[in-house]
Amino acid sequence: MRNLSENICCSSVNVIIGERIEDFLSSIHGKKIAVIYSKNLRLNPKADLVLPVEDGEETKDINNVLVLVKKLFEAGFDRGDYVIAVGGGTVLDMVGFASSIYMRGLNLVNVPTTLLGMVDAGIGGKNGVNFSGIKNVLGTFYQPSTILADLGFLETLPKEEIRKGLAEVIKYGIVLDKELYDYLSIHENEILSKEPVAMEEIIYKSIKDKLTIVKQDERETKGIRIVLNFGHTVGHAIEAGSGFKIPHGHAISVGMVCESKIAEEMGYSEEGVVEDTIWLLQLYGLPLSVDRLGFPVSKEIAISSIQHDKKIRGSKVMMPFPTRIGEWKAVDVPLDTLMGFVSQCL
Ligand SMILES: NC(=O)c1ccc[n+]([C@@H]2O[C@H](COP(=O)([O-])OP(=O)(O)OC[C@H]3O[C@@H](n4cnc5c(N)ncnc54)[C@H](O)[C@@H]3O)[C@@H](O)[C@H]2O)c1
Repeated sequence: MRNLSENICCSSVNVIIGERIEDFLSSIHGKKIAVIYSKNLRLNPKADLVLPVEDGEETKDINNVLVLVKKLFEAGFDRGDYVIAVGGGTVLDMVGFASSIYMRGLNLVNVPTTLLGMVDAGIGGKNGVNFSGIKNVLGTFYQPSTILADLGFLETLPKEEIRKGLAEVIKYGIVLDKELYDYLSIHENEILSKEPVAMEEIIYKSIKDKLTIVKQDERETKGIRIVLNFGHTVGHAIEAGSGFKIPHGHAISVGMVCESKIAEEMGYSEEGVVEDTIWLLQLYGLPLSVDRLGFPVSKEIAISSIQHDKKIRGSKVMMPFPTRIGEWKAVDVPLDTLMGFVSQCL
């Protein structure tokens, strides 16, 4: 078991890696507990309110938030009580949002059950639901008081879901953490077979990397949190170009290849960064180009979606470029230049 704690602005966030959820729940005394969990999990939690919910993007709906708020209200929950969100990123995003608005926020505990949830969605305090067909339009920044990565959940997680989460882990390695990059380079068998020591190591390092960044720039206003977007500008364009049929992890894998090439061509990265990026993604069986995504991507829609990127300021997009493995730099890229490069990648 490993622990971490970080003060993020006005909240203290505790991370526990390797404890079972049952043990965690029995350590809470004198407060009401609600466990909101993905219906797909086999779980029989002891709590005052137990609510199984659907998962997937459809669960990220404001109506589900209101249902949850109503249940908490009827059960007499107050700000000192606990909501335990158990599931993949979709369940955490919906429950996190509900917890942040109920009485202006109660004690939220994130228990991510996918690798993506453990290394990304469950960390950093962003939550949200989709609106009018657009992702995460409604949401808040709200830090969970505890993040519990119960590695037991990984046992049932399909290999493809592991790979999707690994794309984000590899991202941390490339732009923030050479040690993590090196660890991933030599432990692929243990990681792909979900060996607990290796999983604990990569989850610990990823959470630490993400929290270190979030702590410096919780609200994404200082040009630091942007580093977590490496591969995502192009990745989001690919997702949009496929009508959101291509999984996020696959799209950002191709996005990282493309963005590292742009960084090199614009003269920001050392020689070899593109090869090192491609090599590690390939080692984990992640796609490197759009023709490997198994779904058609409309170049036109993909490129035009870049023009609506939230990171555009004037006619420039601020992008995090890897300068060498484990290091990065924020660069303002003219939109025309970016679209020119991206059309070569797609
Ligand atoms: N808030 C953030 O900072 C943040 C960051 C990244 C992604 N996200 C969001 O996260 C969502 C994606 O998360 P996700 O990939 O976890 O998707 P998800 O919640 O849809 O889960 C993926 C699949 O895994 C299944 N599953 C979950 N746990 C399992 C387990 N232990 N064993 C077997 N199957 C299991 C689910 O039933 C589902 O079919 C997106 O909505 C994305 O926008 C949020």
